[in-house]
Amino acid sequence: MTEPASPVPSTERLLLRRWRESDRELFACLNADPEVMRHFLRPLTREESDAFVDRIEARFDERGYGLWAVERREDGTFLGFTGLAYQDFEAHFTPCVEVGWRFDSFAWGHGYATEAAREALRFGFGPAGLAEIVSFASRLNLPSIRVMERIGMHRDPADDFDYPNIPAGHPLRQHVVYRLRREEFVR
Ligand SMILES: CC(C)(COP(=O)(O)OP(=O)(O)OC[C@H]1O[C@@H](n2cnc3c(N)ncnc32)[C@H](O)[C@@H]1OP(=O)(O)O)[C@@H](O)C(=O)NCCC(=O)NCCS
Repeated sequence: MTEPASPVPSTERLLLRRWRESDRELFACLNADPEVMRHFLRPLTREESDAFVDRIEARFDERGYGLWAVERREDGTFLGFTGLAYQDFEAHFTPCVEVGWRFDSFAWGHGYATEAAREALRFGFGPAGLAEIVSFASRLNLPSIRVMERIGMHRDPADDFDYPNIPAGHPLRQHVVYRLRREEFVR
């Protein structure tokens, strides 16, 4: 038996909510920032960023969860996203549900990603009824890996993989996988 779905996951400092039109411009700005996107192949154009929001919103309609827009409760500022994404690209651990995050650089170093990610896990293991949630990142993305470790996820090096969308030989291609099962999650 799963808990009733909570429409707006929230934490002490953050709201995790569906996307608004007004988020698009701010999201495009952070997706265009080479520092935010340094662990991806390249920054996104405005069109690519908007198409990403469209895909995120479509996934909410299909699954009831997704990559929530994260808003700071204190002043309503849009910070980025955190949430759950179904992944079915070709890899030994897919299909799976991933917990992921991307924040504007002004929002780094405050614990927001960790706080939002714990709430995403709570939603995933609670209302969404998932048995396992994974997270993955380039092995060079230490800030993201630190979030995975802070929320209690664990890595088995045997799970490491080459991300198929990144060309062979590229320094970002090697990825690590972190996992957490429902019974391991400490609320
Ligand atoms: C990955 C990413 C979200 C991590 O952001 P972050 O700010 O380092 O992580 P958190 O929000 O959990 O903040 C933790 C830091 O805030 C500090 N902090 C400050 N105040 C805090 C508070 N009140 N509570 C908790 N932590 C606090 C912690 O000490 C920690 O710093 P440290 O890592 O230097 O020890 C961010 O780097 C990012 O958006 N990167 C670009 C996109 C990306 O690569 N996404 C992941 C793709 S796999």
